[in-house]
Amino acid sequence: MNQLIHCSSGLQGEYSIPGDKSISHRALLIGAIAEGVTRIRGLSDAADVKSTLRCLKSLGVQVDSDGAVWVIHGKGPRGFRKPAEPLDAGNSGTTMRLLAGIMSGQRFDSTIVGDGSLSKRPMKRIIEPLRLMGANISGTADFTAPLKISSTYSLRPIEYELNLPSAQVKSTILLAGLYTDGISRVVEDIPTRDHTERMLGLKVRSVGNKRSIEIKGGQKVVARDFLVPGDISAATFLLAAAAIVPNSKITIRNVGLNKTRTAILDVFRRMNMNYEIVRKREEGGEELGDIVVQTSSLRSDLSLKGEHVAALIDELPMLAVTALFAEGSFTLRNATELRHKETDRITAVVQNLKTLGVEVKEYPDGFAFKSKKDLIGRELESFGDHRIAMAFGVAGLRIPGISILDAESVDISFPAFWSTISA
Ligand code: S3P
Repeated sequence: MNQLIHCSSGLQGEYSIPGDKSISHRALLIGAIAEGVTRIRGLSDAADVKSTLRCLKSLGVQVDSDGAVWVIHGKGPRGFRKPAEPLDAGNSGTTMRLLAGIMSGQRFDSTIVGDGSLSKRPMKRIIEPLRLMGANISGTADFTAPLKISSTYSLRPIEYELNLPSAQVKSTILLAGLYTDGISRVVEDIPTRDHTERMLGLKVRSVGNKRSIEIKGGQKVVARDFLVPGDISAATFLLAAAAIVPNSKITIRNVGLNKTRTAILDVFRRMNMNYEIVRKREEGGEELGDIVVQTSSLRSDLSLKGEHVAALIDELPMLAVTALFAEGSFTLRNATELRHKETDRITAVVQNLKTLGVEVKEYPDGFAFKSKKDLIGRELESFGDHRIAMAFGVAGLRIPGISILDAESVDISFPAFWSTISA
C-alpha cells in the first residue's frame, strides 16, 4: 500500500496510542510461564505482539479475550506442548529473542523462525550467553534465524556482563535463568529498559556505576495481573507531529513514563518542544501520564553519541526527522546498532532525507545534516520498517507531496497510525 499524506492545518483534541509493545510481550510471556491466571489490560494491538500470542498458542497456551482484557492460562515454566510447527516470530525481534530464553529451558526441541527482515538480524548476542548456560541453541552459519533449540535437562546459572546495551539480551538471560538451579546475574553498564526485572520483581543492585540484576532459578512465577501503559515510542510520533505542524495542540492519553524510556522527552525539551505532562500517576507498578503538546519553535544543536543512543534507540528515526523542522543541525554517532533493526535505519533515514533534497553526511555509525526549509515531497521508501514509515509519514504533514511505500508496515507497532494522524 502506498500512503499519500496530506499536509495538516493543525492537530487538535485527544489522541490515544497502543499499549507499550515491550511490556505487552513480557506480560504475555510471563503470564504463560506463570502458575495461575494472568489478566492483562491495555495490551498492544500491534502485529509484533500478535506474533508472541501466535507462538504461545502453538505451545498450547490458552488465551481468551473480550477485546479489553486478555486472560492467559499459565502453564508453569515447563508445561508447554511441543509445537507441531516452527514457532513463527514474524517481524518481532523481541518475540524471537525472549522466547529463545524460555525455549532453551524446555525438555523438547523447538525451532523459531522469522520473516525476511528478522532472519537477517543478529542472534549471536543471545546464542552466546544461552550456550554459556548450557543451552543447545544454534542459528545459521552467520548466527541468524532460524534458531534451532534442542531439549536440555536443565541450564546452568551464569554471571554475564552485557557487551552491548540490549534489553532483549538481558531479558533472554533472565528468563533462561529461571531454568537453572542457582542464581544468575546480568550486569549492564549502560541502563536499558527495565520491564523484565520490574515485572518479575527481581532484585537489582548498583555495583559502582553498573546495574546487576539477579534471578533465582527454579522459583515459581506466580501469576499476577498487568496493566499496560501507552507506548511512549508510539507517542513520540504524535509529539513530533503536533510540534512541527502549525496550529496544533493535542493531548496524548496514558503515556508510559518509565524512567528507562523517557530520554526522548528530555531531548525534545532541549529542542524547545512545548509540552507538559499532566495527570501523572502510578498504576500497576509503572508511571504514566497524559502529555499536552503544542506547535513549537524547535531548535536543534543536537549531537547524540555514546550512551544517549541506547536510551533513544527506537526514537532515533523520528528524532532525526523532527530535527529537519528545527533551526540548526543534527549529528548522530555511535549508533551502529541502528543498522541491525527491522531495516538498516541509518541507510533508510539517509536515503529518504537525500530524496527530499537534504544534504546528509553518512558515517558507518550515524549521520549528520543541517535543517532545511521548503522541501518538496516525493515518494519515500519505508523499507518495510514501521518506524521509518511513521517518521517520514509525520514529515508529510508539513512537506507537501510525500507518499510512503509499503505503508502497512505501521501495523507492526501502531496499526491505527494513518487514521490517527489524518484525523
Ligand atoms: C526492546 C529492546 C530494544 C528495542 C526494541 C524492544 C525490548 O531492542 O529496540 O524495540 O522490548 O526489549 P534491543 O534490546 O535490541 O536494544
